[in-house]
Amino acid sequence: MASFKDKIKNLLPQKLLYMYYLKTAKKACMYDIKRRVHDKVYNDSNAEKVKRDLALAYHIVEKGLTMPEPRPGFGKAVVLSLIGTVEKYLELNLPNNDLEFTQSVSVLKEYLEFHDDINFQLDIELAGKLENIKSQFPNVEGLKQIKISKKDYFSNINESFEKFCKSRYSVRNYTNEEIPLPLLYDCIDLAQRSPSFCNRQPSRVHIVKSAENKKAILEIQNGNRGFGHLAETLLLVSSVISTTKDIHERFENHLNGGLFSMTLLNALHFNEIGACSLNWSVSEDKDLKLRSIIDIPENEVVLMIIACGYLPDEFAIASSPRKSAQEITVAH
Ligand SMILES: Cc1cc2nc3c(=O)[nH]c(=O)nc-3n(C[C@H](O)[C@H](O)[C@H](O)COP(=O)(O)O)c2cc1C
Repeated sequence: MASFKDKIKNLLPQKLLYMYYLKTAKKACMYDIKRRVHDKVYNDSNAEKVKRDLALAYHIVEKGLTMPEPRPGFGKAVVLSLIGTVEKYLELNLPNNDLEFTQSVSVLKEYLEFHDDINFQLDIELAGKLENIKSQFPNVEGLKQIKISKKDYFSNINESFEKFCKSRYSVRNYTNEEIPLPLLYDCIDLAQRSPSFCNRQPSRVHIVKSAENKKAILEIQNGNRGFGHLAETLLLVSSVISTTKDIHERFENHLNGGLFSMTLLNALHFNEIGACSLNWSVSEDKDLKLRSIIDIPENEVVLMIIACGYLPDEFAIASSPRKSAQEITVAH
């Protein structure tokens, strides 16, 4: 029998119901939005922001160094900006053993070394600044980018969990060999073993193999330059919003999808398929454009895209070093 609440709901015109839910949803979301806006305006922790900017920039340079075909002189603007942020970091007198700082300095030195090795004359101003960093920090060494063979890269997939975990990287270089659909379904079946809220299993995968659709999608995604075009398959991970009961469950789609995607990445690795997550942190117009390229149900929210493909015999991977457990943990 319908509850009293349901009876009232059925009596109300849908438009009125829509307005009511919109109002309560806005109120609930404002709690989160205000926290974010407040942080943007009032959090004057320069240390956090400068470290964020270092990580953002050094990672772009790291990626550039590991592209299938790095373009000599690539990323001048971002390298200059990284040098500027390193200088800002030093002005703030922050510790010189923080990962963001050591990796930034290390990546800048590696960028210089890369161009020296190929005898490419960098822009004079840039080269001067890089030489300066090199002589200022001779002993600062982060992790260099890794050149590896396919055989070595997958050598730990049947080893211990620790070895397996430590052997997976984002790979941004693929062959055009076709990944069979049944194998992708096997990987997705494994990803389905991920926990989900009340076992509601909200995650969905859209497999994109058509060259035309892949190209159109990658054109509006902002993190695949230099390698996206090589992806044999795009796995678009989405999540069904109708699985959430009310607005307070709104993060469950992304949370459950994150767990699902991690298992999917591991499953791809286990099956010797190279993969790289691609963010879908986009504006409304891009999201709508995506929905005009492939058919995504209205009640699904797009979470991320995974570019994948079989790997060439030799390739490079970004080292992407991690902070230690002690650095990110508070024991209460
Ligand atoms: C949600 C998410 C979005 C990402 N987006 C991009 C992207 O747009 N382009 C890219 O090259 N890498 C992207 N990455 C990959 C990260 O750069 C990478 O996971 C990180 O540097 C750690 O390196 P690892 O995956 O090799 O361990 C993304 C990763 C995640 C989890």
